[in-house]
Amino acid sequence: MEQKEISRAVIKRLPRYYRYLGELMKEGVERISSNELSERMKVTASQIRQDLNNFGGFGQQGYGYNVSYLYNEISKILGIDKQHNIIIIGAGNLGQAIANYTNFERRGFMIKGMFDINPRLVGMTVRGIEVYPIEKLEQFIKENDVQIAALTIPKSKAKEMAEKVISYGVKGIWNFAHIDLDLPEDVVVENVHLSESLMRLSYKVTHMDHSIKEIPR
Ligand code: NAI
Repeated sequence: MEQKEISRAVIKRLPRYYRYLGELMKEGVERISSNELSERMKVTASQIRQDLNNFGGFGQQGYGYNVSYLYNEISKILGIDKQHNIIIIGAGNLGQAIANYTNFERRGFMIKGMFDINPRLVGMTVRGIEVYPIEKLEQFIKENDVQIAALTIPKSKAKEMAEKVISYGVKGIWNFAHIDLDLPEDVVVENVHLSESLMRLSYKVTHMDHSIKEIPR
């Protein structure tokens, strides 16, 4: 499929379309209009049309969108129609929690192994996923065609480890360490920061409170 430059905002919204379309498929819905989808997703119909037009638009006037077709197309655009091999650097609390989550595999994200500098963790398995010593990193990345590394290590070690895995061939960093990584342009970084999300929630809750308190008596 021919694709033009897609804005980051659109890409950010695609997983949500994908989730809703998956739910529609489960419900046995075969086609849906942008208006119906808009009602479900609480996004304007014109936003939906605009977003999906980025990919040539899969809708037809008077017919709407073919749910499974759109679902499959979005999965191709997101690249989740293919398998991605992942490793986790840092087998502590967070690394193990990620390894324990089974849903990633359903989307084709295969966690191949974890790595840690703590010898007490090496050899341990989490849901069948083994913790390896750092010395095995290069060989493992090359032999397992690893594309993505999740960094669940202290922030003081994140840059050094990111550079290391990149030099061994990793293309994407899923960064959980609280640090902005300045990496080569041909490497992509996706930051996941629960505390930043919580701060945004705090802002909203705080302002909600204000509006309640400020009602004149
Ligand atoms: P933890 O202390 O349980 O685990 C960290 C692990 O990294 C340890 O097992 C340690 O031996 C290992 N490690 C340290 N240096 C390493 C290196 N160079 N190579 C490989 N392994 C190394 O800590 P936890 O709670 O799992 O947190 C991990 C990181 O994730 C921290 O930086 C924390 O701030 C961050 N974090 C981020 C969250 C987010 O929402 N982004 C949420 C929770 C934690």
